[in-house]
Amino acid sequence: MTNPDFKFSALTERLSGPRSRAWDVTDRAVAMERAGRNIIHLGVGDPDFDTPRSIIDAATACMGNHRTHYAPVPGETDLRQEIAQLYSRQTGQDFDFGQVVIFPGAQAALFATMLCLSGPGDEVILLEPFYATYEGVACGGGADFITVPLSADTGYDLDVDKIANAVSDRTRVILANSPGNPTGTVFSRERWIELAELCRKKDIWLISDEVYSDLIFEGEHFSPLSIPEARQNVVAISSVSKSHAMTGWRLGWAIGPRALANHLDTLSQSMVFGVSQFTQDAVTQALREPPVELEKIKRTTQARRDALCGSLEQVEGLVVHKPAGGMFVMVDVSGTGCDGEEFANGLLDHSGVAVVPGSAFGDSAKNFVRIGYLTDSADLIKAADRINDFVSSFNSSG
Ligand SMILES: Cc1ncc(COP(=O)(O)O)c(C=O)c1O
Repeated sequence: MTNPDFKFSALTERLSGPRSRAWDVTDRAVAMERAGRNIIHLGVGDPDFDTPRSIIDAATACMGNHRTHYAPVPGETDLRQEIAQLYSRQTGQDFDFGQVVIFPGAQAALFATMLCLSGPGDEVILLEPFYATYEGVACGGGADFITVPLSADTGYDLDVDKIANAVSDRTRVILANSPGNPTGTVFSRERWIELAELCRKKDIWLISDEVYSDLIFEGEHFSPLSIPEARQNVVAISSVSKSHAMTGWRLGWAIGPRALANHLDTLSQSMVFGVSQFTQDAVTQALREPPVELEKIKRTTQARRDALCGSLEQVEGLVVHKPAGGMFVMVDVSGTGCDGEEFANGLLDHSGVAVVPGSAFGDSAKNFVRIGYLTDSADLIKAADRINDFVSSFNSSG
């Protein structure tokens, strides 16, 4: 039993908001699988791709060469330089390694960045539907957050007027993500420029989460770091998790103004204290290679998207919002008479397919489920068949 005299911090409560339950259906699916049930996992965004062999070989060689000591806290200079050059090429602006800080994954980079930019009394704006962990990221440091729902009817495009209306004197940060999780929407250059201008005028930080930027099938990636005037208040966060099939390696970064990088370095001293040397070396090498593996991952992911969306579009009662990027599709299930939570739980029990209820991404998405195209096309078509069976089952039961 918990002794009420031994109290936990207010932080623990703030981190336990509704979105902390985003993975409940997935957890149940894992337990069912352990008990012998056949499950198709289309929940957690971890595709079945293997990390490219050359990266594994590079890491093993580095381990063999005893690159197993503490790395510099903000990251190995070679890797930071490689990332700075990557952004210089992509944005047409100059970046140097002093603007890059390495973290164990984009998740840690997001949390650390938010801690450096906002605190009690401040307000953070999230664009809904948002990645489930953003709630904890936004309020972990004590800030309040508000959400601005983007509409499925307009393809979840940025609505900068609506965002401007939500800005108050307390607004300190806007966190945006393109291609989006869960929506797969790729924000256009024009909308980004409008948003960045709003942030600049109102002295608001803009965090751009770009972890899916290498997985765009229609449209083009645009980083707000490309806008010369926006460089004082824009931070981009990314990682190799999705681009290089390296989710478990835990390597991501923040890139932005040097003053922020210095604060992130200091924060990391007391929180993370660096990322393993051999991981950083392997990623440095991966970023120097021609993007052959990236292309392969992207093309395969696109084919998977097409296979899944094509099959789901045949299921009566579902409205499929085909994504332009990323690895998830949002499906409106309200036509079946269920909300997302009922649908996801019922689907798991009836058909053994694990998806995430839309409520995990904000209240406005409660009639949706998020389905990942994370396995091969044959498996995805099988999953869509099972979804069809499930939907037919309650049609036939009235
Ligand atoms: C939008 C978004 N941001 C950040 C992350 C965290 O990525 P990482 O594995 O680099 O921590 C994820 C992971 O799924 C994500 O979907």
